[in-house]
Amino acid sequence: MIHRTRPLVAGNWKMNGLRESLNEAASICKAVAAGGAGKAEIVVCPPATLLMAVTAICEGTKVGVGGQDCHAEASGAFTGDISAEMLKDAGATYVILGHSERRAGHHETNEQVRAKAKAALGAGLMAIICVGETRAERDAGGALAIVGKQLASSIPDNSPPGRIVIAYEPVWAIGTGFTPTPQDIAEMHGFIRERMNQHLPGQGANLRILYGGSVNPANAAQLLSVEDVDGALVGGASLSCAEFMAIAGVYR
Ligand code: 13P
Repeated sequence: MIHRTRPLVAGNWKMNGLRESLNEAASICKAVAAGGAGKAEIVVCPPATLLMAVTAICEGTKVGVGGQDCHAEASGAFTGDISAEMLKDAGATYVILGHSERRAGHHETNEQVRAKAKAALGAGLMAIICVGETRAERDAGGALAIVGKQLASSIPDNSPPGRIVIAYEPVWAIGTGFTPTPQDIAEMHGFIRERMNQHLPGQGANLRILYGGSVNPANAAQLLSVEDVDGALVGGASLSCAEFMAIAGVYR
């Protein structure tokens, strides 16, 4: 496999994980130190309650830590929210933004995602911005148009090179065991690269475009070898060190 850029395998723990999950984080650090992820960069995105404990575990290792969302403002009267500055202060280097579960469950718009991404970049974080169509949108032949719109409206103009990562996560593939065909993934990732090259002139070639949605140890080798796939955003399988490392191990 030839990669333009260093692949990224990020684990999104979502609303999962109690203190005992810190053992998994420690195991991931140990496995990465032993070469288990090969040339892939590894990032763990725990729930906010575990963020500082996970960053303490990962400090000095090759495993990065990310948040799962941030507010567009740096501070203020926003009960329950967390700012990009706070994530950075807690030791995070990445933040996932615009996940479909937030777009659907919290009614986040493309414009809000873009404001959050601006805040993340301003705080010095890397932004993993999620896009993806629903089953109905794909069945209606509208997948490319929907993702094109999400990209156009969610990605800040003039983002500095290398600071944005796109995650293509078809909503219908998340947590379902279903995945698009390699041909459909290749088509979408090629489309995303082309659109992003227009949106952020000259940055398309080195942009990392992750695939996410039901990635597991059994399908990782096939999914991650698809043209224009530069890594994975892993949900359920990232909760287990063994499964997560079996996926990242594709890059060994
Ligand atoms: P699953 O890997 O559990 O399908 O979740 C994917 C996802 O939403 C990652 O952000």
